Amino acid sequence: MAKKLFLKTLGCAMNVRDSEHMIAELNRVEQYDLTQDESEADLIIINTCSVREKPVNKLFSEIGQFVKHKKKGAKIGVCGCTASHLGKEILKRAPEVSFVLGARNVSKITQAINSEKFVDININYDESEYAFGEFRQNPYKAYINISIGCDKKCAFCIVPHTRGEEISIPHDIILNEAAKAAKNGAKELFLLGQNVNNYGKRLSGGKKGTLNFSQLLSQISKINEVERIRFTSPHPLHMDDEFLEVFASNPKICKSMHMPLQSGSTNILKSMKRGYSKEWFLKRAEKLRQMSPDAAISTDIIVGFPGESEKDFEDTIEVIERVGFEQIFSFKYSARPFTTAAQMTNTIDDETASLRLQRLQSRHASMLDEMSQRYLDKIFEVYFEELRDNGMIAGRTSQNFAVCATGSEELLGKIKNVKITHPQRLILYGQVV
Ligand code: SAH
Ligand code: F3S
Repeated sequence: MAKKLFLKTLGCAMNVRDSEHMIAELNRVEQYDLTQDESEADLIIINTCSVREKPVNKLFSEIGQFVKHKKKGAKIGVCGCTASHLGKEILKRAPEVSFVLGARNVSKITQAINSEKFVDININYDESEYAFGEFRQNPYKAYINISIGCDKKCAFCIVPHTRGEEISIPHDIILNEAAKAAKNGAKELFLLGQNVNNYGKRLSGGKKGTLNFSQLLSQISKINEVERIRFTSPHPLHMDDEFLEVFASNPKICKSMHMPLQSGSTNILKSMKRGYSKEWFLKRAEKLRQMSPDAAISTDIIVGFPGESEKDFEDTIEVIERVGFEQIFSFKYSARPFTTAAQMTNTIDDETASLRLQRLQSRHASMLDEMSQRYLDKIFEVYFEELRDNGMIAGRTSQNFAVCATGSEELLGKIKNVKITHPQRLILYGQVV
């Protein structure tokens, strides 16, 4: 009989893909069926995120819950970025945990479950050419890693310390995986890396790649069965004209660009070590709007970074207003171990940071209310991927707008034209036409 696996995945899309890789590796040795009920699982894995402090703090109370409810003899493992960051300490604080596996050590999962008190968090371990088994949870959208790690040293970010140095995956491996996923029915490919548009700078062993990111996108788009290509996350610094040109002109590339701003203040950007200024960012965004007028731009913003004055925060609001981002992921700064920002003493008090976050979010909400009205009566191509209650079906436009329409199962996995009848801030309601 197949064993049961309870797998909780936190954090970014890379973690989602790492979880799929773990399932594939486990299934090479013996069959595991996924369960949502931890009390019937033979194996409980939590794939963690450590970008902000909160989920890290929650980890130990979560493990406590698993210990309380788990079946006798079931193993608990902690994987991902918090595993990389805390390592052995996890076993000390939670002795019921059997293994700790870092974000760069996914292929060792079968070894981990068969050893007692296994800890491997080596961030120099290189899995960029490892032939992972096949497993995908989403039949419509295939996640494909194109690089691992990150060489940028943004002052606030723990990722380079949990996922190690940046290594691109050879393009032939990516193209094979892309072709296979598309043949298996995934019309949409989602290319993943911490810094995707820096693709090709360094492969395993220090070799340079033969394709850059723009060329990789062009090659992937030649696969017949591929209809949509998305990617995350690009870095604004590497958004050169060649890249914007390929993005704008290739019809298979979804018109949704993530441009993580972090702050609109040149001073703060400098102390974050982002490598660009407010003006430079605005110019790139303007160029993108010019070249791809239909594209939506999303961004990440951190408020309350050490030294952020009221004026710095207002610069951020100004950039938000001038670019008119269609989506914003905004966070309160959280000091992280190993980062240079954690040493800064000019910290912002929590109340000020919370207020700024609130102001930013409510300003953006009203911008979205206004923006969404522009989509009334517009027709979008929607890729339907999820059945909803009450005879509704949901999907995404090329711009990554969420759309909901009346429809049933036969629309799943299809791309259809939808006319928007009731645009709302976060979801556009419409009818298939
Ligand atoms: N290269 C990835 C970054 C991963 S972290 C990317 O560009 O998406 C995702 C986001 O989390 C970052 O863009 C940043 O906005 C936020 N973040 C990272 N470190 C943080 C910290 N210490 N405090 C608050 N937010 C942070
Ligand atoms: Fe983090 Fe900056 Fe890299 S946000 S993942 S160090 S580009």
